[in-house]
Amino acid sequence: MPTKPKKSKSKLTLPSRGVDWLNNPIFNKGTAFTDAERDSLGLRGLLPPHVHSMTEQVLRVMNNFRSKPNDLERYIQLVSLQDRNETLFYRVVMDHLEDMLPIVYTPTVGRACQEFGSIFRRSRGLYISSRDRGQIEKVLRNWPIPDVRVIVVTDGERILGLGDLGASGMGIPIGKLSLYTACAGVDPRQCLPITIDVGTDNETLLKDTLYTGLRQKRIRGEEYDLLIAEFIDAVQKVFPKVLVQFEDFGNHNAFRLLERYRDQICTFNDDIQGTGSVALAGVLSSLLLNGGKLADQCILFFGAGEAGLGIADQIAAVLAEEGLSPAEARKRCWFVDSKGLIVEGRGNLTANKLPYAHAHADACPDLLAAVKSLKPTMLIGASGQGKAFTQEIVETMAKNNKRPIIFALSNPTSKAECTAEEVYAWSNGSAVFATGSPFAPVTLNGRTYVTGQGNNVYIFPGVGLAVVATGSRRVTDAMFIAAARTLASLVREDELAQGRVYPKLTRIHEVSLAIATAVAEEVYARDLATVKRPADLAAYIQASMYNPAYPDYSPSVQTSTVA
Ligand code: NAI
Repeated sequence: MPTKPKKSKSKLTLPSRGVDWLNNPIFNKGTAFTDAERDSLGLRGLLPPHVHSMTEQVLRVMNNFRSKPNDLERYIQLVSLQDRNETLFYRVVMDHLEDMLPIVYTPTVGRACQEFGSIFRRSRGLYISSRDRGQIEKVLRNWPIPDVRVIVVTDGERILGLGDLGASGMGIPIGKLSLYTACAGVDPRQCLPITIDVGTDNETLLKDTLYTGLRQKRIRGEEYDLLIAEFIDAVQKVFPKVLVQFEDFGNHNAFRLLERYRDQICTFNDDIQGTGSVALAGVLSSLLLNGGKLADQCILFFGAGEAGLGIADQIAAVLAEEGLSPAEARKRCWFVDSKGLIVEGRGNLTANKLPYAHAHADACPDLLAAVKSLKPTMLIGASGQGKAFTQEIVETMAKNNKRPIIFALSNPTSKAECTAEEVYAWSNGSAVFATGSPFAPVTLNGRTYVTGQGNNVYIFPGVGLAVVATGSRRVTDAMFIAAARTLASLVREDELAQGRVYPKLTRIHEVSLAIATAVAEEVYARDLATVKRPADLAAYIQASMYNPAYPDYSPSVQTSTVA
């Protein structure tokens, strides 16, 4: 018998009046309340008389979804549903994941953040502003559910590839946490989106009457660090078992905060570690297509920020596991940033870039020069610079490699370094290609190519599920490498044959469970768990996953609280 996961200790108090059942998204079933429930809960007359099944409700939502004129309207529809009836929202998202992911998350969520002030309807999550110094613990205690296990927090400074969106960045933690639930079954009641509003340097927002954040420039330096330190302390007091995921911080803060807190609390940065892991998985499965070995690759990154450096660090860690010295491992990775190729002796390099500054004779002021000089086998774009992979660059990659590996990871779609159509046309179909945002399949010379989306959603929900299920005290790089290896191992032959380097998104629940199990193995191996190891880890984790189904609130089963 598998050990049963302990249910959350925090019980939710059931609403007392009929109308409160309808106004509470956790309990609301809308027209699916049965006759018996309508009688006992005081709902008779507050709903139209016909009782609908959840399947019929899903049909209604999908009909509406398809009739909307554009994706932003679909986003607004889904967020409104989430605010009204959380169970139905997750049923819809889980059952139509391929349609829903580009709306709930990138690329549409980027547009939603840009329009946040205009489309704002109902507040979700917690806002902590620089004016809350000295009382952040009190603010956290205003959150009505005590057993929070996953926080996604942003300060809105680097939203996707869109830059500083200040408090409008709240769409990102909300969307990301929806994916923890939709893709890995982390209980939505244990998830808390937080925006730390330290101001914005975005002049357009500061002048926008409808902007929802503080009207001030970003606080920086010691004042900023003290605010974050107070936030971390308060979180530990109020939600002692929580995992804190840092999201879309500017890269000067992201690396620092990760280094400062990774050994103190249970935390990770998805832009650095999650991206590193998903891209590593794509690299490993790409090698199955071009027949190469990781140690033989020359990998050129375009963009030396959180994503690029996060990926290189994980590739180097795997190469080190395979026997290379750390310095030799890093020599497989080269970077072009806004100032050209990063080489030994180039001035003003940050500490994170320095290990990748290798000796090189040719001056390479731009990407094309670096591609010609280094002859990389892989080109990975994480620069936020749309269209940076020109025809000449892709053709040079194709001339130098039988099957060049090209990843255009920048989001949203407009920022992708090249499109799927371009890369297959310019490489005459030889490129192994993956992107950050979704692209439709491309048919060229009678063959259809399916682009893999290197979406972090393959990784972080499974990692989060493992952390929650095991009560892990820390998140380590080794967990992300375990996740990447597992993800790469799950790509099937038929998927590879289509050019995919990731499993189909429709397999996300199977993928998340496999990743959670592999990560949990790592948690137990490193003695980081606070939950006793169950006999059957996979069965235990699976049993802990949230399934959006309506509970029965009729009088025969009703109690005053629910788990
Ligand atoms: P970042 O701001 O930390 O780094 C951007 C880097 O690009 C910096 O090194 C900067 O110097 C470089 N850059 C900017 N302009 C350049 C130019 N003209 N030429 C060469 N380099 C230039 O941002 P981060 O977090 O690294 O993200 C970069 C992009 O990757 C974003 O568009 C983001 O959406 C995307 N991304 C994709 C992910 C995925 O596909 N799974 C995950 C995380 C990020």
